[in-house]
Amino acid sequence: MVRKYRIGEPIPTDSVVAEIEITSGEIPFFTRDDEKKSLSLELGDSDRIWGLGETTRGMNKRGWIYISNNTDDPVHTEDKKSLYASQNFLIVDGNDRKFGIYVDTPERVTFDIGYTKASQLVISFDDFDFDIYVVQGENLKDIVHQFRKIIGKSYVPPKWAFGYGQCRWSYMNADEVREVADKYDKAGIPLDMIYLDIDYMERYKDFTVDDKAFPDFPAFVKEMKDRGIHLVPIIDAGVKIEEGYNVYEEGVANDYFCKKENGENLVAAVWPGKVHFPDFLDDKVRKWFGNKYKVLLDMGIEGFWNDMNEPAIFYTEDHLKEVFEKIEDYKGRNLDINSFFEFKDLVGTISNNPEDYKRFYHNYKGRKIRHDKVHNLYGYNMTRAAGEAFERLSPDKPILMFSRSSFVGMHRYGGVWCGDNMSWWSHLLLNIQQMPALNMCGFLYSGADIGGFGADTTEDLLLRWTAFGIFTPLFRNHSAMGTRRQEIYRFEKIETFKKLIELRYSLLPFLYCEFMKAVEQDEMLFKPLRFEYEDERSAEVEDQLLFGEHLMLAPVYKQNATGRYVYLPEDMKMFRFRAYNDYDEQELTKGDHYVKADLGEVLVFVRNGFELPLVKPALRVE
Ligand code: GLC
Repeated sequence: MVRKYRIGEPIPTDSVVAEIEITSGEIPFFTRDDEKKSLSLELGDSDRIWGLGETTRGMNKRGWIYISNNTDDPVHTEDKKSLYASQNFLIVDGNDRKFGIYVDTPERVTFDIGYTKASQLVISFDDFDFDIYVVQGENLKDIVHQFRKIIGKSYVPPKWAFGYGQCRWSYMNADEVREVADKYDKAGIPLDMIYLDIDYMERYKDFTVDDKAFPDFPAFVKEMKDRGIHLVPIIDAGVKIEEGYNVYEEGVANDYFCKKENGENLVAAVWPGKVHFPDFLDDKVRKWFGNKYKVLLDMGIEGFWNDMNEPAIFYTEDHLKEVFEKIEDYKGRNLDINSFFEFKDLVGTISNNPEDYKRFYHNYKGRKIRHDKVHNLYGYNMTRAAGEAFERLSPDKPILMFSRSSFVGMHRYGGVWCGDNMSWWSHLLLNIQQMPALNMCGFLYSGADIGGFGADTTEDLLLRWTAFGIFTPLFRNHSAMGTRRQEIYRFEKIETFKKLIELRYSLLPFLYCEFMKAVEQDEMLFKPLRFEYEDERSAEVEDQLLFGEHLMLAPVYKQNATGRYVYLPEDMKMFRFRAYNDYDEQELTKGDHYVKADLGEVLVFVRNGFELPLVKPALRVE
């Protein structure tokens, strides 16, 4: 059962699709404080909090403070309060009460979950205008199910998007891309996608292709597709300001870009240097921008990733000017403790500065609204622009789409990747812990950069991460410019990697089936153990996952480990895979076990006598 309450006059988000009447009266469970603009809830000692989507820290969110404020921050450490997404759904899981809440508002929301006061959950708002949905169900799974039913069906990508993908920032030209494909094929390693990062474009202009680096792009797309490999280009939110560039010209002529108070188009800077931001919140702009994907669809492209759509801002022209003026002020002064640090921070805080989000406006549902009030909806609406366009432009053929920034509702138009993680062991664990919370909000086609994006990976980290990635719908190896290259054919244990990727392909019919069940039945694909097992121990397991209806996963995420402790909430059969056709089986009883898992071994625990179907792998999903 879902009840909806309204406080103030919320700005709509279009995240909930079900028509639900507003219930009058007080919001159950919570104490409302209009002065402090907050809702608070006393927490019992054993209450656990699940959810909040793509955030830092563990699965049980208790003990930290999270802020819904989409942020381009590439350092996902424990002290961070915001990442790229706002997914304001959480479940209070106590011994005597279980319910979910969805806080529906684009504004900044702070979830203080037993941080300021261990015994209190306090949700506070900048404004006090929001809808809140209180979701009750028979159990945790049912609560998620009830919530998912009101937000609409999850996005389903094409089947080939369940294959393995190789990315790098960037493959600079067609020959580099060919080389990747050749090396994979030569080694006999399955591969379905090669991603094109920003350098395929002409000077970072969306919907253009650098024809020196990629001469006759349509022929190249075809050449790759004939080999069964899909090229997946990136699209960024900012549109380069350049005379004669049609997207820029049309945007200016039709007033499609976000404007400042004085009516001028905001000038910000991202990869191309100066850009304007399309007003994706405006229906007509969404339609216009969405239609632009046709340029690449017509060249044979069938998938995209949307990036920098928080939106990331390196600087705004106005802010930069202010900074230069201030620096001028400091010239010749004796910088003391205060002025020195002010001076030092001036340039450091110029990127993604909250003040810049107050400098421009949207035309949203007939109202002029300042960006910071709807900031969290921006990436969502960029991806919605694409998703709505694909329904028009490619009604019979699904197009791959996933985004960096997101909000609940975007799950209907695309998936997500978890942004710029690092090649850290802790980020492999974070990937494991983020999956269920993303799934709760309908983001099923999701995954993280396998091997880690920033910093240098190691062969063993990449192996362990690949072993987990076998199960994430989005299975993409990606890394940043300047870091160690991490295409798997560069490593010594290439045969071991190959067996892991083959195992993915061997499991594909099963994985796809579980994915589609999760979509159609509004369920999670990845669940914390607690969602199936009531015992206290299960509730504390933060490094194992249930996958679909039948499997439990226990990835190894520590360097130099040759095994790990696993908690079995019931008797299960363990498979230790070295390859799809090389594994041992063991019946294990409920309780704790230390199990060996060498590099390249994948542990899969099967429930209730289920028979795990494997097929002979192929080099392509098709
Ligand atoms: C952003 C993206 C990353 C991409 C880079 C260059 O950092 O998150 O995936 O490689 O931009 O486009």
